[in-house]
Amino acid sequence: MSEAAPPHVAAVIVLAAGGGTRMKSRTSKLLHQIAGRSLLSYAVDAAQALEPDHLCVVVGHLREQVEAHLDEIAPHVVRALQDAQLGTGHAVQCGLGALPELSGEVVVTYGDVPMLTGDTLLALVGAHRADGNAATVLTARLTDPTGYGRVIRADAGDVIVRIVEQKDASEAERAVDEINSGIYVFDAAVLRAGLATLRTDNAQGELYLTDVVAYATGAGGRVGAYVTDDRWQTEGINDRVQLAAMGREMNRRIVERWQREGVTVWDPATTWIEHDVDLAPDVTLLPNTILRGATSVATGAQIGPDTMLIDVEVGGGAHVVRCHATLAVIGEGAEVGPYSYLRPGTELGAKGKIGGFVETKNAKIGPNAKVPHLSYCGDAIVGEGANIGAGTIFANYDGLKKSVTTVGRASFVGSNSVLVAPVHIADGAYVAAGSALTTDVGPGELAVARARQRTIPGWVADKRAGTSTAAAAKAALATEGTPDDQEA
Ligand code: UD1
Ligand code: CA
Repeated sequence: MSEAAPPHVAAVIVLAAGGGTRMKSRTSKLLHQIAGRSLLSYAVDAAQALEPDHLCVVVGHLREQVEAHLDEIAPHVVRALQDAQLGTGHAVQCGLGALPELSGEVVVTYGDVPMLTGDTLLALVGAHRADGNAATVLTARLTDPTGYGRVIRADAGDVIVRIVEQKDASEAERAVDEINSGIYVFDAAVLRAGLATLRTDNAQGELYLTDVVAYATGAGGRVGAYVTDDRWQTEGINDRVQLAAMGREMNRRIVERWQREGVTVWDPATTWIEHDVDLAPDVTLLPNTILRGATSVATGAQIGPDTMLIDVEVGGGAHVVRCHATLAVIGEGAEVGPYSYLRPGTELGAKGKIGGFVETKNAKIGPNAKVPHLSYCGDAIVGEGANIGAGTIFANYDGLKKSVTTVGRASFVGSNSVLVAPVHIADGAYVAAGSALTTDVGPGELAVARARQRTIPGWVADKRAGTSTAAAAKAALATEGTPDDQEA
């Protein structure tokens, strides 16, 4: 961007006191999220690109929530209180009132315009400086400008004379398609003087920040525009329909960025990637994949279809199919799924496997170890190369407390076993299928923890005479004899 300015302005004031009533939410509008971040955090991030001496958020409606959120994401931000929302001009007055007397450039933005980027703000400030303006307005040309303030330019067209709100506009003014985004850079002295002249004699009885523009031109200053062709960057969110539309557009941009970085995405429309996710080149994402939080995926891995990963680290070349995972680590070349549920604390080693209908929690499963089918593996440490048979349950909870089970290196747990924690299976040990294991197993031992089989010859003929089972037994005995006969 040729007009990009070197960062640094005196202040950015983010207006965020408004009601957000159309969200119909107990949560402040500014805390609602798209792509895994709050609307307010996008505004704070964009503002920060200008490296302001002072960054101030004007709070009002649900301010406790907003301030608590700021404590988390940007504790250094100054908060200004606007008790009653008397208009955007009043909000900026409140913002300036919370800051020391300053000179230079003051940028005003909104807390509910999440697509606005730091680059656009830098370009706005760049245009402001290049033209020696008293104020510069971020504007856009819309096919439907209804509802927005209209930008009224001088006859020559290069400077702005004033901004008129939809409700105060004449028919001719309403026909103007250039809108005020509500994002500006002002010379601090002009802004302060202009705010002092504001009056409420307008259709909404409010103190309009937009009237500072007419004040500035009247005082002999130049007011210019920086026109963006990206209308999304000027759009605020007022309701949940807009929230979803903006979320989809944000996601479209994130997905496209990753595609350009070398990620294959089969179906961008059903692939959701949050802001803080990190992907390597040659990752492949199949339809209905949702990557959230601080998830990272290394090169060559394939995720999906139908997978949600939240704060998960996936190693290179791993395959993760139809999986729901939170706070888990999946090793290089590992295989997960289909239909696997990885809960927090799951760590699967390189080339390990967590298979179909397996749930894991706080489980360290070593390299090459496998939990392939139908198991619950909780509070477990499974050594390298161990094999956990189908249907094995790690019984980690005795009704009072959780305990840990360990399975040693290259050990083998037979199918349908229950490992009652705490219990320790050494390296190189076997557990017989169907065991209910309650005591430790040493290296090289086989543990059989189930009742020995009892077989009663003739029981069917005796107790189930006349049934089809008895008939089948009779026929089989006539042709095949008893198992003992065959062995003999
Ligand atoms: C404002 C502009 C309009 C512009 C539009 C862009 C004015 C008078 N009008 O209109 O020209 O096209 O934004 O979206 O400025 N806010 C406060 N305190 C207040 C009032 C508003 O903090 O007392 C905050 C709101 O939370 C919101 C922002 O300022 O984030 C804009 O307020 P809103 O009421 O949406 O402004 P509009 O009337 O839509
Ligand atoms: Ca608005």
